[in-house]
Amino acid sequence: MIKKAVFPAAGLGTRFLPATKASPKEMLPLVDKPLIQYAVEEAKNCGIEEFIVITGKHKRAIEDHFDSAFELEDALMKKGKKELLEEVRRLNRINFAYIRQRAPLGLGHAILCAKPFVKVEPFAVLLSDDVIDPDTPFLREMLELYREKEAPVIALEAVPDEDVEKYGIIDGTEESQGVFRVKGLVEKPRLRNAPSRLSVIGRYILTPDIFGLLETLPPGKGGEIQLTDALNQLAANRPVYGLVLKGRRYDAGDKLGFLQATVELALRDKVLSGQFRSFLNGLMANGKKEIR
Ligand code: UTP
Repeated sequence: MIKKAVFPAAGLGTRFLPATKASPKEMLPLVDKPLIQYAVEEAKNCGIEEFIVITGKHKRAIEDHFDSAFELEDALMKKGKKELLEEVRRLNRINFAYIRQRAPLGLGHAILCAKPFVKVEPFAVLLSDDVIDPDTPFLREMLELYREKEAPVIALEAVPDEDVEKYGIIDGTEESQGVFRVKGLVEKPRLRNAPSRLSVIGRYILTPDIFGLLETLPPGKGGEIQLTDALNQLAANRPVYGLVLKGRRYDAGDKLGFLQATVELALRDKVLSGQFRSFLNGLMANGKKEIR
């Protein structure tokens, strides 16, 4: 059973500047919850019990968000706002460990920082700016595949040609529907060199042998220690599997993806959806008349 999950959150978030200059990208809210809370809840729903967050400069708000907030709780209690109080308290009951990545040396390096806490167990990694439709049990499916194969599992998504150069891309063969045996990976390849159109997205089930590879890896693309490079070496030494996501994913670390996720989640929100839908329909109707 996998009980630990690592949440790398030490990146600079340059695609979302200036919002991310002094505040963490992971605290950007979709409707009323920060990105990292969606990822934490996703992991918790799959039986994860220990949550390890890799933080960096300007990331204190993440720790505060999952800490108790005495004054706020007291005020909510006095005002009789029981539902909000329970919502806030729910967050304090989760077991967190925070590790500081001293410099943003890459995702691979961020994961290596978790080694003293993960030790020799298999573990999950969730990148909170990749928001997966909360109604999709995708992480659960990845954990089941891990149990069946006893091998690392990485999340995959088919991307159009124009996006190939933005992602880690796998080379692999499909063993059963949506399940690939990964032969190799390459970080942000040129389209003409890309071995497939299957990109790696921000969910991984990893085994502790990844740490040894990360420790000896030279810097790769962008001068960063790339998880993709370590996974490429891993796939040369042992079976590694990829599972294709069936639901929706939003790249909420990117402005357009963030707006798309906001709209879709707001349309599903019990309280907001009616008014928000009328607002959007109004905008569409005006658009048809080409009002500027
Ligand atoms: P991204 O590629 O999204 O980088 O990192 P970023 O710095 O967060 O954002 P941009 O691209 O500059 O806009 C993927 C994940 O890896 C973490 C990030 O926090 C994010 O969850 N990461 C990246 C680290 O924890 N440390 C690093 O050194 C790099």
